[in-house]
Amino acid sequence: MGNRNSVFDCHIVHFPVIHNRAGNITPVQNNIEIPFDIKRVYYLYDVPGGADRGGHAHRDLKQLIIAASGSFDITLDDGTTKKTFSLNRPNMGLYLCPGIWRDISNFSSGAICLVLASEPYDESDYIRHYDEYKIYCNEL
Ligand code: TYD
Repeated sequence: MGNRNSVFDCHIVHFPVIHNRAGNITPVQNNIEIPFDIKRVYYLYDVPGGADRGGHAHRDLKQLIIAASGSFDITLDDGTTKKTFSLNRPNMGLYLCPGIWRDISNFSSGAICLVLASEPYDESDYIRHYDEYKIYCNEL
């Protein structure tokens, strides 16, 4: 047995861009651009140089992560395979299915990491220790 979701179930989503001489607009809508109902939005900003975020997995949460400004890297790990995605445009996002460990690093100065999430905040949904994550992967 193993983790039912793999890093290959996570993928880049390209959002529409409405071009305008005065700037662009990108709409994101539940179940159209986003493959779930958004119940929470949060964003990381003022990340100090060299800082890393993430370092956990979620049991049930689905997320869509966007570099609303600047850039950063997200390394996914399903307990077997690791895959790194670089996010650097506000018209693309990374869909993260449940059960995937993630580390977020290499934040550019002024980067904004916008997260659209399928559930409200729930600490019991987190797996915060990698040892526990390996057990979780093997139990599924
Ligand atoms: P965490 O999700 O671990 O941050 P990151 O993945 O960006 O490193 O959350 C950091 C802290 O913020 C943790 O104590 C829980 C709190 N938090 C909330 O209270 N509500 C939220 O919606 C989120 C995402 C975090």
